[in-house]
Amino acid sequence: MTTAVDLPEPLVHPFAPAGRRDPYPAYRWLQTHAPVHHDRFSGMWLVTGHAACAALLRDARFSAALGQRERARDDRLPVSMLTTDPPDHHRLRAPGGLLLGPAALRSVAGGLRQDVDTVLSGLAARGGEPDAIEDLGTPLATAVFGRLFGLPPGEHAVFTDLARAASVNLDPMAPPAQAARGRLAASALTHYLDAHARALAERGDRTSPLAALAADGRLERHEMLGILSLAVIGGWQPLAETVGNGLLWLLPEGRAVRRRIAGDPEFARTCADELLRLEAPIPFAARVATESVELPGGRVPAGARVLAVIAAANRDPAVFEDPDRLVPDRTPNPHLAFGAGPHFCLAAALVRQVLPALLARLLTRFPDLRGPDLPPSFEPTLVPRRLTAFPLRLGPSDAPEPTEGP
Ligand code: HEM
Repeated sequence: MTTAVDLPEPLVHPFAPAGRRDPYPAYRWLQTHAPVHHDRFSGMWLVTGHAACAALLRDARFSAALGQRERARDDRLPVSMLTTDPPDHHRLRAPGGLLLGPAALRSVAGGLRQDVDTVLSGLAARGGEPDAIEDLGTPLATAVFGRLFGLPPGEHAVFTDLARAASVNLDPMAPPAQAARGRLAASALTHYLDAHARALAERGDRTSPLAALAADGRLERHEMLGILSLAVIGGWQPLAETVGNGLLWLLPEGRAVRRRIAGDPEFARTCADELLRLEAPIPFAARVATESVELPGGRVPAGARVLAVIAAANRDPAVFEDPDRLVPDRTPNPHLAFGAGPHFCLAAALVRQVLPALLARLLTRFPDLRGPDLPPSFEPTLVPRRLTAFPLRLGPSDAPEPTEGP
């Protein structure tokens, strides 16, 4: 069924400011009544079923390069994996493995375990009711990029400011003035990373994944910098927000689940994936159909601007039993929070290493951790999906200064 129907009352359009805060009822309605839906509000085709999203993300007839240009309303985007389609995409993605592939992850794993405990010590030292995003997710995300990029702790504050300002570029519906500021910030970020990579090279410092990527001869300088900037804009804030989004779902769980996360690394990994499924920080992937394509649930015409609505697909009752409930040991869990196909998140393995480790250490050190009494609200941004705030009550610390991670 291919439709241009309107949502019935009292459902609010998922992109209208009020609908953005809780888009799931509207997504469920679309999934049931118009799974491939031409949306008059945005002019885009919203694809909400899991099978259709998984299919379109893997289908070469949908262009990510055109999707990014349309999404950012800018055809001068810096070249990167996400602004290219195969086969050129592969030329960029292969060296990108130097930044985020298995060897890179092994090289930063030990440091990241220490960073998690440093971040948790900072949280405890903060006093009062620290915020899950500002005081936990943000320093964690910066620590992760610090390791990948070889940034000394003294650079973390500068990097955080640049990453935060450039992250505005994630939101396709940012007002034009804000989007223009975001583009300037992205350019400042690129200059900073360029200078940093040069400084590492001049010192002969080859220890970080960034240095390995910068020294690789397969890419032009602007391509290498495009990949770094994509990693920051596409990864820094989503990683930070994932911590708040995840704790929102996790903290109502009782002792048994908390203890298992703290003590069973495999369970912690399974649970982290379930948190990503429920509140995907990147709720959409943008594409343009290069020809007319029949998808499960409807046909999109050639030239259609299409959104694979990951957040809807991840709660598709045809695939997930009890889709709106946290099932900490849900297996299998074919969620699409990291996308699918050629553009599958290059950092999925990194996130799957860092997030469970953080949750395990957090619940070991603060077994009585609680969220706010009042339900927190979501920002009206479309990307990333993020809470306005999530104050934490740490409770007594059981294990103040542990040194070993899971
Ligand atoms: C929880 C955090 C994260 C989530 C949910 C996430 C999600 C995603 C998604 C959905 C895509 C596919 C976009 C598309 O197909 O249009 C993607 C691509 C990508 N992500 Fe992530 N990401 C996260 C963190 C990161 C981090 C930390 C980094 C870098 C350090 C990163 C680097 C990338 C890159 C480079 C791509 C493009 C891959 C390609 O086009 O081949 N991501 N991510």
